[in-house]
Amino acid sequence: MRLSSLSPFLLAAVGVLGRHEKPRHSHIDDKLGISCGNLGKIHGGMKTVAYFGNWDIYAVNYFITDVPAESLTHLVYAFANVNSTTGSVILSDTWADLQYAYPGDNTTAPGENVYGNIKQMFLLKKKHRHLKTMLSIGGWSYRENFAPMLASPTKRQNFVNTAVQFVADLGFDGIDIDYEYVADHNQAAQMVDLLRRLRQSLDQLAEKINATSPFQISYASPSSNDQTALLDLTRMTPYLDFYTLMALDYMGPGFSNYSGYLSNLFPDVHNPRATDYDTTSSLEFYLFNGQVPPNKIVLENPLYGRVFNGTDGMGDKFANGGTQGSLGTAGLWNYKALPLPGFNAKVVNVPRVGGSYSYDAEQKYLISYDTPEIAALKAEYVQCLGLAGTAWWEVSMDRNDTLSLISTTVSKFGGAGSLDQTLNNLNYPTSTYANLKDGFSDN
Ligand SMILES: *[C@@H]1O[C@H](CO)[C@@H](O)[C@H](O)[C@H]1NC(C)=O
Ligand SMILES: *[C@@H]1O[C@H](CO)[C@@H](O)[C@H](O)[C@H]1NC(C)=O
Ligand SMILES: *[C@@H]1O[C@H](CO)[C@@H](O)[C@H](O)[C@H]1NC(C)=O
Ligand SMILES: *[C@@H]1O[C@H](CO)[C@@H](O)[C@H](O)[C@H]1NC(C)=O
Ligand SMILES: *[C@@H]1O[C@H](CO)[C@@H](O)[C@H](O)[C@H]1NC(C)=O
Ligand SMILES: *[C@@H]1O[C@H](CO)[C@@H](O)[C@H](O)[C@H]1NC(C)=O
Repeated sequence: MRLSSLSPFLLAAVGVLGRHEKPRHSHIDDKLGISCGNLGKIHGGMKTVAYFGNWDIYAVNYFITDVPAESLTHLVYAFANVNSTTGSVILSDTWADLQYAYPGDNTTAPGENVYGNIKQMFLLKKKHRHLKTMLSIGGWSYRENFAPMLASPTKRQNFVNTAVQFVADLGFDGIDIDYEYVADHNQAAQMVDLLRRLRQSLDQLAEKINATSPFQISYASPSSNDQTALLDLTRMTPYLDFYTLMALDYMGPGFSNYSGYLSNLFPDVHNPRATDYDTTSSLEFYLFNGQVPPNKIVLENPLYGRVFNGTDGMGDKFANGGTQGSLGTAGLWNYKALPLPGFNAKVVNVPRVGGSYSYDAEQKYLISYDTPEIAALKAEYVQCLGLAGTAWWEVSMDRNDTLSLISTTVSKFGGAGSLDQTLNNLNYPTSTYANLKDGFSDN
């Protein structure tokens, strides 16, 4: 039985417990466990959703063929852009998306064919029929193009027509809307209309091409209650398969006054400066104010850490984000780069906060990130609350060994068999690309 209807009570219980150092009934114990109490937890049908950035094939040297598809139910391809003049969806890197030659690709074969990441995603779908691919439109970089598109019904319809055309041509299983962020109640209403049109148009496509499963829509949604309050959640929800709750980037150099947790489940009452935000407060808003069913919420976690340099510890002043980082981004480390060589960092798991970090006391260098222990705790939290599953930003940043946060989460859920088995679609008879239309029968 899914415990959706009981989840609000569970949430309250877990939330309250998270606010105490030593819970009277030890639902959160010292061994990094959350207990669902008498109510049990959901098993089966869990969603595991990973973003892939189309830039990964360059500096990161990470390819679609490296994606751990057996552990994922959704691969979300980031990002397509929006033409603010017309509202049309446009690809952001047609070389990486459509043309790049993977090993075995003969890009001089006759006809109009698709290669690059798009072809490889289709091949992954053939091998892993539970893997659904989603085209993510927006992201932080393209956020400014949404407002002009949303403001006009004609542009909204252009957005929908071109998004659905990409699904039909490129072999996706759905669309992820990532607008950061809806700014007022007018935009909220426009977003509802956009989702309504998108739902209708995707359903028509599914019928037209006899898709195996309905095409899906996900919505990358904010964790800050101020931003969430601007959404019309009750009217959005019917059109969505799930929200990907961006339960991350709670604190970081550049936007926080003190060192703190990146993605904590609970506030730290003993050290409130370390938790400007927390996932439980955010979920309370979605579940109670927004009436969103828990089984439509996927909790997004970071596969990276943020640095607080020159700090005496968690919840304290810091100087800066440091000078180093993965791929030249100062202050940001991929999870797989940790622990950093040249540092003597102690790893600290804080189950009552549902967060973790490492700290080198000599170099005064703190990195806020999720450890496998905290990833496992979060997986239990997701199951106790009847949430839909877990998402990650971004798949190339994970480790590929037993300390992988994705595989740790899947194990905690009960293994690959516990994941959502909804089949992807492989029929795209109207695709403009001959090889995709043919289902890549040579591969
Ligand atoms: C947006 O569409 C307009 C009109 O078709 C076109 O002139 C412009 O180049 C497009 N912009 C981008 C970024 O594709
Ligand atoms: C690639 O396709 C072209 C055109 O069909 C063919 O002439 C060529 O031999 C192929 N190359 C390989 C390596 O198969
Ligand atoms: C639609 O797909 C189903 C299963 O995928 C198949 O049995 C059926 O024959 C298809 N119908 C048409 C009209 O293609
Ligand atoms: C950081 O400090 C500034 C200045 O005192 C204050 O306005 C702001 O609200 C603080 N930010 C947070 C997240 O508390
Ligand atoms: C931390 O900041 C100090 C300056 O405040 C700088 O000298 C040092 O290199 C930084 N450490 C790292 C590891 O980035
Ligand atoms: C696993 O990750 C390491 C470090 O990022 C990399 O060197 C190695 O090639 C990867 N192994 C596989 C099988 O992908």
